Amino acid sequence: MKVAVVGRGNVGGGLADLWERAGHELRRIGREGGDVSEAEAVLVAVPGGAIAEALDNVQGIEGKTVIDATNLWGVDPPAGFSSNAEYVKSRTNAPTAKSFNTQFAALYDRIGEASSTPSNLWSGDEEARQVVEQLNRDAGYEPVYAGPLENAAAQENFLKLLGGISQGGLGPFLYRMAPPDQL
Ligand SMILES: NC(=O)c1ccc[n+]([C@@H]2O[C@H](COP(=O)([O-])OP(=O)(O)OC[C@H]3O[C@@H](n4cnc5c(N)ncnc54)[C@H](OP(=O)(O)O)[C@@H]3O)[C@@H](O)[C@H]2O)c1
Repeated sequence: MKVAVVGRGNVGGGLADLWERAGHELRRIGREGGDVSEAEAVLVAVPGGAIAEALDNVQGIEGKTVIDATNLWGVDPPAGFSSNAEYVKSRTNAPTAKSFNTQFAALYDRIGEASSTPSNLWSGDEEARQVVEQLNRDAGYEPVYAGPLENAAAQENFLKLLGGISQGGLGPFLYRMAPPDQL
């Protein structure tokens, strides 16, 4: 599949590496922007508060299936939207999914060490299912459907629970692997 990542840092760059190893063709775009019109799927992985600015600099994203991996740390989604994912859809008018926002990028290289395939939530449009589930599996995760795009806000808020769990006991190992300033 031809995949473009908007944001090529820990998440965008890390997933691009995993997908490339699985045989996909990747285009990596940073804050300078670029054209994604050749892509069959687009991952958005920029700082949550920069989503509008980032999309302003991307050409050819209308009509594209997009996976939004952003999180909102101390910022709200754009005015009038419950989630960044719903904002993305307003810009593309196309199948949209929220996924990968609850996984620690610092652990991408260790997915294969898990005793069973790690699950990864996705919420979003049914029309995005094939793409988002394939890209989950090709990154090493078992996709778990979490409902329609209206649930993306809950998935974005889930991060607060994940932070609490990680620091509170169950996941100190994860916490050491990915302290909050690296999320
Ligand atoms: N790190 C994690 O474990 C993790 C896990 C799940 C979700 N997330 C979320 O995923 C997103 C990306 O996180 P990350 O850790 O990959 O961040 P990162 O390593 O800092 O990478 C951010 C990317 O976004 C681009 N960018 C920064 N400001 C921008 C702007 N104003 N307009 C357009 N592009 C801009 C950067 O461009 P340049 O390449 O040009 O610098 C870079 O490619 C965030 O929303 C984060 O909350 C992170």
